[in-house]
Amino acid sequence: MPVTALLGAQWGDEGKGHIADRLAVQSSIVARYNGGDNAGHSITIGDRVVRTHLVPAGAFHPESICVLAAGMVINLRSLAREVDELDGYGAQLTPDRLKIDQAAQLLLPGHIALDGAGEDQLGAEAIGTTKRGIGPAYTDKMARVGVRAGVMTDAGRFAEAVRAHVERTNARLARDFNRAPLDAEAIVAEYSALAARFAPHVTDTMGLIHTALERGEHVLAEGAQGTLLDIDHGTYPYVTSSSTITGGVLTGLGVGPKHVRRVIGVTKAFCSRVGAGPFPTELKDEMGARLRGTGSNPWDEFGSTTGRPRRTGWLDLVALKYAARVNGLTELVLTKLDILTGISPLRVCIAYSNCDSPVTNFPSDVSELNQCAPIYSELSGWEEDITGVRRIDDLPLAARVYLLQIETFTGVKISHVSVGPERSQIFEV
Ligand code: IMO
Ligand code: MG
Repeated sequence: MPVTALLGAQWGDEGKGHIADRLAVQSSIVARYNGGDNAGHSITIGDRVVRTHLVPAGAFHPESICVLAAGMVINLRSLAREVDELDGYGAQLTPDRLKIDQAAQLLLPGHIALDGAGEDQLGAEAIGTTKRGIGPAYTDKMARVGVRAGVMTDAGRFAEAVRAHVERTNARLARDFNRAPLDAEAIVAEYSALAARFAPHVTDTMGLIHTALERGEHVLAEGAQGTLLDIDHGTYPYVTSSSTITGGVLTGLGVGPKHVRRVIGVTKAFCSRVGAGPFPTELKDEMGARLRGTGSNPWDEFGSTTGRPRRTGWLDLVALKYAARVNGLTELVLTKLDILTGISPLRVCIAYSNCDSPVTNFPSDVSELNQCAPIYSELSGWEEDITGVRRIDDLPLAARVYLLQIETFTGVKISHVSVGPERSQIFEV
C-alpha cells in the first residue's frame, strides 16, 4: 500500500487538518513531514474545535500512530502543551502512539528570540513570520549546528547541546541585535525536563514507516503550510523555511517516489494569505471582508496560530496550476465552497497581465509577480444553502460549473468538496 501525500496547494490554511482527520481513518501511520508549530490545523469534532500545531490530525483515531518526522522542527515546550491538551480530549498520545523521529530538529528558545529580533530589524520589510523560530531552526539545521531529537535520550549530551545553542544565540543577539542574553541554565533545566518526558517517544520513524509499507499498510503524509510558502518554489523570500511540497514528503519521511501514489492538494474555493508577500488576487474591499468573515465562526479567516486576520481574494487558477505541477497533484480537495454562496458573479483568475503582456505560468519571482495584475473570468454564483449537500449532483448547477472550471484549468480532478467545518460536511465527488 502506498503513501498518500496531503498538502496545501495555496499559501496555507486551506483546511488540511479537516481533510487529514478524515483520511487518517484509513491510515496506520499519519506523519507530519515539514515545519513546526507555525502550523495551525483545526479539526471540528462534534461541537468542539480542536487545534493542532505539531501533532498530526491522526491524533483522534486511536488506531493510527502519529509521527513527527525528520523534516520537522519541534518545539518541546509547545509539544508538551499540545499533548496535554489533546490528551484532555481523549487522544492518549502515549509513547506507543506518538513517535518523534531521531533526526527531527529541536526548535529551541534561541530560535524564537532570533526570529523575533530578525523580524523587528527588518521593520517594513518583515516577512510577517509567526515568530515561532522556524527560520532560525532550519538555518541551524542547514548550518549543521542544530540539535536533533535523538540527543534527548542522552541527558548529559542533551544538556551540553542546549547550553551550546544558548551560547551561540547569545553571541548573535549581542552582536547583530544588541539584545540581552538568554538565561542558559534556566533553559537547560527546563528543556532537560522536557527531553526526559519526550525521550521515550524518540525512535527511527523512517524504519517504522517502511515496515508499515512492507506490511501493506497505508501511510498518510500530512503537510503544513502550503505550496506557495515552499522554501524553494514559493514566493521567496515571503515563504516559510521548509519544503512544503511533495519533494518535502520524500526527504521529510525518508521514502522514495515509488511509494507516493496519491498526492492530494487542498485548496480553498478562494484564496487567503497571512503575512507579507505578493498576492495577485487580493481583495482589500468589502468582498475581501466577506470572504474573511467576522471571526465569530471558527471557520472564519483568522490565523489559528497567531490570530491575525488573513488577507483574502478570488481563487487564483494560475497559482493553483503551478501547485498542480510542482507537486504532481493527482487530486484536489476543494474546501469552503459554502463561503461563496450568495456571491454573484464569482471571479477566478485565469492569467496575469504584466505591462500588457499576458502571463499564463505563475512567476515565483517576487518582483515579477508584483507587476502582475490578475485577469479574471466571471462565473455565475448560486443562492441556495449548500451546507447540507452530500452529493455532487445536489449542488446547484453554478457550483458544479465552478468545480468544472477548476478541474479543466488545472487538469486535476476534484475528489472531495467541503461545505462546512463539520467532519460530516465533506463529501466525495
Ligand atoms: P498551516 O499549516 C498560513 C506563513 C507566515 C509567514 C511565512 C513565514 O496552518 O497552513 P514562518 O513562521 O513559517 O517563518 O512564517 O509563512 N505561515 C503560514 N501561513 N498557514 C500556515 O500554516 C503558515 N505557517 C507559516 O504567516 O507569512
Ligand atoms: Mg494555519
